[in-house]
Amino acid sequence: MEIALLGFGVVGSGAAEVLEENRELIRRRLGEEINVQYILDLREFPNHPLGNRVVHDIAPILSDPEVRIVAEMMGGSHPAYEFTKAALEAGKSVVTSNKEVVAAFGDELLQIAAEHGVSYLFEASVGGGIPILRPLRDDLASNEILSVSGILNGTTNFILTKMKRENTAFADALKEAQALGYAEANPTADVEGIDAARKIVILAAISFGKLLSPEKIPVQGISGITPEQTALCAELGFSVKLIGHTEKQGEKILALVAPHAVPETSPICHVEGVNNGILVNANIVGKTFFYGPGAGKLPTASAVVGDILSIFDGGIRLPKWEKAGATDYADPQARVCRRIFCLAGCSKCAEKSKPFFGYETYLAKDGKFVFVSRPMTEKEMANALKECGKELLWTLPVLD
Ligand code: HSE
Repeated sequence: MEIALLGFGVVGSGAAEVLEENRELIRRRLGEEINVQYILDLREFPNHPLGNRVVHDIAPILSDPEVRIVAEMMGGSHPAYEFTKAALEAGKSVVTSNKEVVAAFGDELLQIAAEHGVSYLFEASVGGGIPILRPLRDDLASNEILSVSGILNGTTNFILTKMKRENTAFADALKEAQALGYAEANPTADVEGIDAARKIVILAAISFGKLLSPEKIPVQGISGITPEQTALCAELGFSVKLIGHTEKQGEKILALVAPHAVPETSPICHVEGVNNGILVNANIVGKTFFYGPGAGKLPTASAVVGDILSIFDGGIRLPKWEKAGATDYADPQARVCRRIFCLAGCSKCAEKSKPFFGYETYLAKDGKFVFVSRPMTEKEMANALKECGKELLWTLPVLD
């Protein structure tokens, strides 16, 4: 059974390592061996045992009928999209870790795969090594998915955890995440929430059948989070986490990425380091939680190779996605949630502000007071702030 690897960076070389490390186990499971026949990369790898498989052109891969599966791990949209499309049109199944391509072109690529009777699988594109997409689509198929929320970016969770536990400076924690192979080539995509936006869009598409555009949903990263915010939230019993959230609101879909305060009662609060944690709320089963390593060479490669094996092992049901239209997007300002507020003022101000925000207790220190409000929309929040007349220092939505 022959395959081709597109991209031999962190994930690509990890996939080769998994295939080698578990060669015997895979042979026993499938009854045959998987051979990496081609590696497409711009570089040469003369010292790697598979160095003689390196090609710099996709053409020999596309024209080789022995190659049934192409694993795309190049990253970036182009030429990964064009190569994926060409491979599917050539009758080859494609597996990928490339969330950028799935989030932008997943609807079209799934359609092309269906037309050519092949598979397009992307378990590794969300949650690294955590099985989430197939359980969501297959094992929860008897359910209506109500919401999916979680930590979808390992790099930012690694940074937030280091800042909280070891008081590490943001830049040092980021450097460490890069050295460990967690971060994107351009880590702005991690830090500013863009990577998590691609992943929540994929989760929304699996859950609701519509592919939203990551550019059209509200996205906020962690660059504005301060150690003081983290400490005050901790005093109130919350952890600050970068959360991707999607839910159905009638016929519309709400999807967003933003830092949230997560209560200690939620399993998401306790997800630390490079791990991801995804909470699915479904109408029959209730809440299920998926946890594990969300980035890194071998966890991501584990999911890529899992997809390769499932194709060799039998049929895969392909989801049908439609591109979301303007009317499919819910208004994020209408979202109702509790919020942590930090306002300028003393205890007296805090007492007077209670009726506007509906809280029982508050923390007051250093000329500011902090509290958890009742559930409110952004409009209600703006009105409450206007009526109480206190200066807003910062606010974070609570993930309940
Ligand atoms: N940069 C991504 C992360 C890699 O940190 O989660 C896994 O998608």
